[in-house]
Amino acid sequence: MNHRIRTAALILLAATIAAPVFAQSAGADTYKAKCAMCHGPDGTAATPMGKMMKIPSFKDPSVVSASDASLIATTKDGKGKMPAYNGKLTDAQIKEVVSYIRTLQK
Ligand code: HEC
Repeated sequence: MNHRIRTAALILLAATIAAPVFAQSAGADTYKAKCAMCHGPDGTAATPMGKMMKIPSFKDPSVVSASDASLIATTKDGKGKMPAYNGKLTDAQIKEVVSYIRTLQK
């Protein structure tokens, strides 16, 4: 194979492998910075804020079975004491953070 083509193919391959890992860590960073103080680092809301506000665990069956669209809507529009993040986080960041919440539910 031509050397330049092989280099390009390797870069493409590396980018394909790295992309999902990057998306996950972007969601994790957003979560740790904006959500963990209430929802807890593990999503069970075992924090002083979580207890005070009676925040449900992300592992609760009702949250596990909720659609991505509904979790995205709650994050955007807020709900009860949950602050709205529309305009504070981009749509892409909200999607990433919801994907990260899914990893906490396992
Ligand atoms: C100030 C504390 C606080 C912060 C910060 C916070 N939340 Fe919440 N969150 C809540 C509360 C309280 C509820 C419960 C709302 C209700 O059901 O009345 C909630 C509920 C939710 C739900 C809905 C769960 C369900 O019952 O379906 C999602 C999804 C959610 N939060 C995502 C996030 C994300 C993502 C972030 C960070 C970008 C975040 N929250 C930051 C307090 C917080």
